[in-house]
Amino acid sequence: MRILAATSELHPYSKTGGLADMVAGLSNSLAEQGHEVRIVTPLYKCVRESVANLKPFDWKMQLPLGAQTIEAKVWTIHPRDNLTIYFIDQPDFFNRDGLYQTEQGGFPDNPDRFIFFSKAVTHLARYLDWRPDILHLHDWQSALIPLLVRHQSTNEGWENPPATCLTIHNLAYQGVCDKSHFENTNLPWDHFTPDGVEFFGSINFLKAGIVYSDWVSTVSRKYASEILTPEFGCGLEAILTKRISTLSGILNGVDYGEWNTTNNPFIPFQYSAGNLDGKSKNKMALQRSLGLKVDSNVPFFGTISRLAEQKGLHLLIKTLRELDLNQMQFVLLGTGDVSLANQFNNLAKEFPQNVAIHIGYDRQLAHLIEAGTDFFVMPSLYEPCGLNQLYSLRYGSIPIVRATGGLDDTIQDIDSSGAPGTGLKFLNPLASELTETMRRALRLYPTSNFKRCQLMGMKQDYSWNLSAKSYANLFTNLCMQNLR
Ligand code: ADP
Ligand code: GLC
Repeated sequence: MRILAATSELHPYSKTGGLADMVAGLSNSLAEQGHEVRIVTPLYKCVRESVANLKPFDWKMQLPLGAQTIEAKVWTIHPRDNLTIYFIDQPDFFNRDGLYQTEQGGFPDNPDRFIFFSKAVTHLARYLDWRPDILHLHDWQSALIPLLVRHQSTNEGWENPPATCLTIHNLAYQGVCDKSHFENTNLPWDHFTPDGVEFFGSINFLKAGIVYSDWVSTVSRKYASEILTPEFGCGLEAILTKRISTLSGILNGVDYGEWNTTNNPFIPFQYSAGNLDGKSKNKMALQRSLGLKVDSNVPFFGTISRLAEQKGLHLLIKTLRELDLNQMQFVLLGTGDVSLANQFNNLAKEFPQNVAIHIGYDRQLAHLIEAGTDFFVMPSLYEPCGLNQLYSLRYGSIPIVRATGGLDDTIQDIDSSGAPGTGLKFLNPLASELTETMRRALRLYPTSNFKRCQLMGMKQDYSWNLSAKSYANLFTNLCMQNLR
């Protein structure tokens, strides 16, 4: 099958979160299974500056954006058999620091940047001499594409266009903007209705994707059902419920080629379920590098996260203030909300031997935290899938999670009765429940059940293989319906 994916970030070229890992992991796995995969993504400044072997693609685009005509070039890279990446080179839109924002906030022209990107993807899908069977679109930044495809197929003579599948990674980011940007889509205003692109007088890109794509998927089964409720639906629950027969959840996988403990350049000591010596050496190496007290016996908790409301870190601050920090250690790596960062930094000042806070984005430290900690905390208010808990399982850092979305689907609770499991779960987004769960972790740590559960987690297999097959089956069915 020929699959053309569109994404606003892609590991290892551009990344702010799990979306980048997901599209890379899925594409590699589909390519390995023999499908022809091509990916379209913006040529951001960070890509232009760091990727040496980009090749110019003999293709110049001139696309309308409202009354203007915008030019773009395309660069490609061919990282493996069956996989080609197209980078859209439009310097005014993409050659700047940051993918979507600066410290001052989101770029005001984000709607136009991604309207243009969506047009560029649609243009390639239509005119490349390689015709995709399926267009796989990710999040709001590419969610306008199904409508562009339908419009061109109904009004502009595009015969047999590919089927479309929109994957929602996070319903909270919808690309809502002022309706004045609609001019730039060059689509008829007939689509700007409550049944289409309009959302309470504004444009809503994600809603457009939900309405016009052939299939909607999310990144775990639990999240697929949660988003039909007012608590998780972010105002789109009714429109999603209308699509219930064409909506599904497919769990993300892990690229164990990158996220492993046996052949990993980012961690000083390799280890495995068969020999955990390296794990405690990594723990001490991590403590040393963070300036914490070096002690392999102290229970060590870690978090790597965007500092965003979604992640429930305000609960964690309260919980850390409840616990006896002299009897444990905690490390956080993250970027985002400044006030949250300050609150964590204050803790580190008060407990310099026991709490370390690293504000920033650091790929190497992320691996070392997974490898050096005993527990990994993810108290998310909602979590469509979550990748860090899956990485933690493989690294033997027992996840402590709220039972929501993909966290609930992937973690099996370690019962207080002593029954083994893979992590510790709590139900309600309350600091008191998180505190109680971290106390459970502290009680588990000195027992033999700790290691039993750690090993059980390390043996879990969340490789992409299975999930990629589910996507391939879904795509095959969509193509068959598309041909009917
Ligand atoms: P989300 O996509 O909602 O942020 P996920 O758990 O799916 O959450 O994925 C987060 C990804 O981003 C993981 O690969 C994680 O290691 C990485 N990550 C997040 N923050 C940082 C950071 N500050 N430094 C390095 N990696 C980070
Ligand atoms: C989003 C979600 C996260 C998910 C990731 C990749 O950023 O917040 O839960 O793992 O996308 O699908």
